Amino acid sequence: RPVMAGRDFLSNLDMTAAELRAVMDTAHSMKRGEWRGVKPLAGLSIALVFEKASLRTRTTFDVGMYQLGGHAITLSNTEIGLGTRERVSDVARNLERWVDAVMGRVYLQQTLQELAQHASVPVINGLSDMLHPAQLLADYQTIEEEFGTDLRGRRVVYIGDGNNLANSHIHMGILTGTDVTIVTPVGYEPNAGVLMDAVRAGVNITLTNDLAAIAGADVLYTDVWISMGQEAEADIRRRAFQGYQVTPEMLDTLAPDGIFLHCLPAHYGEETVPEATEHPKSRVFDQAENRLHAQKALMYHLMGDLKPRW
Ligand code: CP
Ligand code: NVA
Repeated sequence: RPVMAGRDFLSNLDMTAAELRAVMDTAHSMKRGEWRGVKPLAGLSIALVFEKASLRTRTTFDVGMYQLGGHAITLSNTEIGLGTRERVSDVARNLERWVDAVMGRVYLQQTLQELAQHASVPVINGLSDMLHPAQLLADYQTIEEEFGTDLRGRRVVYIGDGNNLANSHIHMGILTGTDVTIVTPVGYEPNAGVLMDAVRAGVNITLTNDLAAIAGADVLYTDVWISMGQEAEADIRRRAFQGYQVTPEMLDTLAPDGIFLHCLPAHYGEETVPEATEHPKSRVFDQAENRLHAQKALMYHLMGDLKPRW
């Protein structure tokens, strides 16, 4: 049974630990092929709204919807001009009349909040400046494949920019009990509001600038130094992040069964090198595959109780 029917998914904290467990179980089951031929979203549609580029998010939401019997329509911002051609609230009030869910990849989390406020259908965060919660579902599916479903105390170390990925990692630490450490250069720490979420939850997150924190990690995770929309800061950022590159030598210092994850795309020569993503400890392509399974599970749990309106 769908456990988050009709809800928005703008943040991992929009789900409880029990709901996350249900979504993960569904994702594993879908990956094992146990839903083959099952079409719980038959007759339903989702709009995929993109203000920025995407390979994985676009492909996996579209293919995932197809595999569950539904239909996806991709809308690029040159077509709809979110907030420029038309105000965000009007876009929401149009889309809700035609489709059963909206996924948005946007610059500002605020835009997603506005879409969610004005659309009666579920709105899914497909990455904003602040969070990337759908990615983290795939990441934790990958982590569970390695370490099982009880992840309490597992050391997850994120290295690099305290960006949307780092923020969502903190949320997953709150939900799952992993021991999260964020290693950044000075001035590139995660969002203060997200850190407050951890404080409010009574969960300890380690913030450090010291690369020594990587040693013995169960999971080492990195992401680009220059996120989409930050191109003007590229030179300053490349200088600030010197030394924070994930190398094969760094992977040798993880726990013996430790793994390396990266949400991709990789900017080789910056946050990592091909020898790391191709290292035996790397699971980055399994992780990319899991975007499909995890998001199918998410869409099932948000939309699976709906009947076609037509
Ligand atoms: N990891 C991720 O979201 O990839 P895309 O930007 O290609 O969608
Ligand atoms: N932090 C990156 C992630 C891309 C999937 C960005 O926001 O561009």
